[in-house]
Amino acid sequence: MHITEGTPRASAVEMNELVLPTYANALGTIFGGQIMAWIDVCAALSAMRHARTQCVTASMDALDFILPIEVGHLVTLRAMVNYVGRTSMEVGVRVEAGDPIAAERAHAASAYLTFVALGPDKKPTRVRELVLETPGDRLRAEEARARREQRLALAAARRTLRAAHEERG
Ligand SMILES: CC(C)(COP(=O)(O)OP(=O)(O)OC[C@H]1O[C@@H](n2cnc3c(N)ncnc32)[C@H](O)[C@@H]1OP(=O)(O)O)[C@@H](O)C(=O)NCCC(=O)NCCS
Repeated sequence: MHITEGTPRASAVEMNELVLPTYANALGTIFGGQIMAWIDVCAALSAMRHARTQCVTASMDALDFILPIEVGHLVTLRAMVNYVGRTSMEVGVRVEAGDPIAAERAHAASAYLTFVALGPDKKPTRVRELVLETPGDRLRAEEARARREQRLALAAARRTLRAAHEERG
């Protein structure tokens, strides 16, 4: 199947992980931090696939764990670039999990992460444009742009509050 260069689809990464007992908490379900680490790795690979350079995680939005994931279950993570700014990208990750023998899958978690591409000088560098090919690509990009505006507004409000706090001493 032909995949057009520079599209969200070309940035897609899928990762499969088996939940080993070493990943479990005291309840026999997976430790949330392990899922976060897998999400970060899967999203970073997708960002690097699009940017074709090293990328660092700048932020991860709220992460909701919808279902507990049990030891012995298969976890499938799918990541894709939703939106490209100047040097940053939003990557969406969907996590599904279930019994690998029954081949069941349920939506277990989702997250949006922002990555910044770095040049050889380790400074933020421009990312090539994202080619929006399908109506789904365009919808995800619009939604990601709205989330980016909220993140930037929140960061600006935080800076203003800190500056006012410092001025007061
Ligand atoms: C991420 C980092 C490179 C940004 O550096 P910076 O000096 O703030 O860079 P800039 O102000 O030029 O911003 C670069 C881009 O990052 C975005 N950005 C910066 N901080 C952000 C944040 N907290 N959340 C979302 N986006 C952010 C900016 O909006 C900008 O995007 P754009 O170019 O698409 O408009 C820097 O904060 C850093 O190195 N952080 C540590 C990263 C890290 O160690 N991650 C964990 C291990 S990978």
